Amino acid sequence: MFSSWKELEESCFSCQKCSLSETRKNLVFGVGNKEAKIMFVGEGPGEQEDLKGEPFVGKSGQLLDQYLELIDLSRKTNIYIANIVKCRPPGNRDPKEEEAQMCISHLRNQVYLIRPKIIVCLGRVAAQRLISPDFRVTKQHGEFYEKNSVYMMGTFHPSALLRNPGNKPDALSDFQKLREKIRELDLL
Ligand code: URA
Repeated sequence: MFSSWKELEESCFSCQKCSLSETRKNLVFGVGNKEAKIMFVGEGPGEQEDLKGEPFVGKSGQLLDQYLELIDLSRKTNIYIANIVKCRPPGNRDPKEEEAQMCISHLRNQVYLIRPKIIVCLGRVAAQRLISPDFRVTKQHGEFYEKNSVYMMGTFHPSALLRNPGNKPDALSDFQKLREKIRELDLL
């Protein structure tokens, strides 16, 4: 575990532990406030993220930013956003088990340095990796699970909301629950 961002970033940007490093245009490390109390974790970079080197900058990112704004959160001020894998899986497929396993130490190190009080998992891949392997987004979205004094919550992935807009009211209610939890813990 690295105790400085500089060491972690150097190790991450030079990583060639899996074959995603061969096809990436840019490594997508993370974005936001490194002292944030609230962290969001997605699955892995898509095409736009790979081109720009920043998480959630495509259409799904625009939707995420709208939901964040509704509850006074923003990547520019009070949250940090990262992904389970830092390099784009070709064709936007799910990360493979071995890719996620290779990459997760980078995310764990980010969590170690940030020490967030709340982690929101965006979608199944993040929720199954960080909350529980059998996590079902449709059944368990919006519920908080306390793990080592960190409150973890899973909600719909913004790309899934773009495909199935019928889930947007549920996603909105998850963000309201997040807002309540932030108030309860007096985090902002
Ligand atoms: N989807 C993700 O899970 N992460 C991103 O950064 C972009 C799209």
